[in-house]
Parts: sequence; C-alpha cells; structure tokens
Amino acid sequence: MVRKFFVGGNWKMNGGKALNNEIIQTLVNGPLDDGTEVVVSVPSIYLSEVRRQLPEKIGVSAQNAYKVSKGAFTGEISPAMLKDIGINWVLLGHSERRNVFGETDELIADKVGHALDEGLKVIACIGELLDEREAGKTTDVVFRQTKAIAAKVKDWNQVVLAYEPVWAIGTGKTASPAQAQEVHLQLREWLKTNVSPAVAESTRIIYGGSVTGGNAKELAQEKDVDGFLVGGASLKPEFVQIVNAKV
Ligand code: PGA
Repeated sequence: MVRKFFVGGNWKMNGGKALNNEIIQTLVNGPLDDGTEVVVSVPSIYLSEVRRQLPEKIGVSAQNAYKVSKGAFTGEISPAMLKDIGINWVLLGHSERRNVFGETDELIADKVGHALDEGLKVIACIGELLDEREAGKTTDVVFRQTKAIAAKVKDWNQVVLAYEPVWAIGTGKTASPAQAQEVHLQLREWLKTNVSPAVAESTRIIYGGSVTGGNAKELAQEKDVDGFLVGGASLKPEFVQIVNAKV
C-alpha cells in the first residue's frame, strides 16, 4: 500500500487579509506535485474566505474544535460548524494547545473522537518536550499520547498522525532525518501491535518542527516519514518546495 505524501501548513495565529492573499497566490501558482495531499490550517475567522479562494484539491483545516456540537462554550467552535461552512479537516492536539492552553490527553482524545464522529478528518499531533527527550522518555510520551487518541479512533483512514518534537517547533532546531525516522518507525510499530498491521501500513505519520525548503527533501527520504506539518515556512513561498519534496 502506498501512503500518499501529505503536507500540512499550520498558519497558527498568523495571517490577515493581505498575507492570506499572498499565501493563496503562492499555492495557486505552485506548481504543486499532484502526488502530495496539501492541507492548510487557517485561523478560524478566515476559514470560509480561504476555502472559497483555494482550488478544491487543496484541503483547508481548522486549528482546533471543541468536543461537542453546540452549547454554552463561549469562544469555542464545533466540528458541526466547520462542516457547515465546508471545512473537512481539523488539527487537534497541537503542542501549543497542550502546552500553552493546558489541553490534556483526555480532552484531545475526546475532541478527536467527536470530530471523527461528525465526519471531519483529523491531523492529530503528538510529541515530546526537550526535558522528556533528554530523560529518555520520548517513546513513553508519544505512546501515551497516541494511546489516548487511538482509543477514540474507529476509522484510521480519516486520521493523519503528526509527530512534532516540541523542542523542534519554531526553534530552527529540526530533528535529524535519523531522529525523525526512529520515532516514526516506533510509532508505526506501536500501531501494528496496538491497532493492526493494516492500519500501521496505511496511516500517514508526518513530521513537524522547523521544516524548511532547505531540509524537507532530506527528511522526506526517510522510509516512515510520510509528509510534514509546517508552521513558519507555510507562510512563505518555500512552502511549495516542501510540498514538492518528493519530486
Ligand atoms: P514550525 O512549526 O514549522 O514553525 O517549527 C511546526 C508546527 O508547530 O506545526
């Protein structure tokens, strides 16, 4: 089974009408490799407008969504609302949600389960902090995070797993291809043992953390690296090079 290469852009809390238009123009001009699935995660206030302006083949994702469909949850948005405006993807469990906003494994798992039940596709993020890596706890942490998510997933075809070591996010310190491959392989083995060999084989495991036009090609060579989740560089023209890393 061939896993289609997947490149997600995570704009985070960046953008605005002018920058959005620049990024959209970059994506429209490409050219983007047809062998890569591209999905951009956009601040919720701009989702409709960006969806309207991008070609259908480019996916548009929210950066978060709550665990129920409606109610007294001031400031939140729901998967049902995303579906209502034609958005089919949501990014969940990003390290900034975990570490800045205190989201727990349990809350993230509930959000993943609900988003999937509502018919969204999910980019689910996991990754260890620097002190966890230095203490030799990388696999403990990413397996714990994956286990919580896996408990709520019925159909892994709707899920992309993003391994993002927190020490590499926004720091300019990319994991080496060997470091990324090592964890991706361990995650695939985890899926094989704890979910099924078929799911392990078919699930895209993408890498995030200071991916650039300069390092994407080398990282993309690794057997178990099925794409990227890109923050800073997704706001720049070099995002095209990252999408085309396999060409
Ligand atoms: P970065 O962010 O590419 O700026 O390191 C990645 C992410 O947080 O998804």
